Amino acid sequence: MQAALINTELYPVDDLESPAAADWIRAIRAELERDGCSLLPDFVSPQTLAQMLRQVRRITHLGYPGPTEVSPYFFNYRLGEGEDLPDSHPLRHRGKRNLAQVAANLIPDDFLLSQLYRSDSMRGFLAAVTGKPVYRNRDPYQSLNISLMDEGGCQQWHFDSGDMVTTLLLQQPEAGGIFEYAPAIRSDENENFDAVRQVLDGDRERVRQNRLEAGTLSLFRGHYSLHRVTPVKGKRQRIQAILGYSARPNLYGDKASSILHYGPRVAQIEATTPRYPE
Ligand SMILES: [Fe+2]
Repeated sequence: MQAALINTELYPVDDLESPAAADWIRAIRAELERDGCSLLPDFVSPQTLAQMLRQVRRITHLGYPGPTEVSPYFFNYRLGEGEDLPDSHPLRHRGKRNLAQVAANLIPDDFLLSQLYRSDSMRGFLAAVTGKPVYRNRDPYQSLNISLMDEGGCQQWHFDSGDMVTTLLLQQPEAGGIFEYAPAIRSDENENFDAVRQVLDGDRERVRQNRLEAGTLSLFRGHYSLHRVTPVKGKRQRIQAILGYSARPNLYGDKASSILHYGPRVAQIEATTPRYPE
């Protein structure tokens, strides 16, 4: 079953001990080290992708828009709080977010996307890349998401909270909706606010573009690389799945953040049949 999900003609995910796989994994690691990202086109075959997309389209109406004005540091709500900073400082910056997300608990288990996300092959592959055990995010809403952008849809410049983000583009728009990033612009030691501000102000020197095609899996170190999605043009929706994995075995996100991003229905569920641990 799993072999049919991942395009094993291109990617030896089920034979990670082979010399060919070792070379492949080494190349991915080198790319991540050098560029902060690695792209795997046709990670799912065109036939699998078509079926996956047919299923996903049945639930796109369940997407919730969430916040529309967001800080580049939106997972760090309190960063810069109480500090006397000019309005031009990155910590004071607010960008436009225009997208909807389908929460994990709305994606049926029998969808090919869910099967891919839960497959041992995915975890095994990511463990080989990172050199650590890899677990699925346990959060009932955040673990697996489908991100939807209509015409004008975009994602503002931001950093991610997690160390590595795994996404699969399911449908590309007619134009726009391009992933842009400034690789390794900050580190654990240095926020590098001056360089971040330059990118926020429109400087293009550090900015790179990934023109993704549907079916491409992308591994991205979004915690250190400022990134965004440019506005979508045309009627075709940009549809992307976000697969939440972590080196931590029991990772839950924040309940308040889930309510913010997936809507009041999360608060209702948590009031009656809580899914977050006490
Ligand atoms: Fe991100």
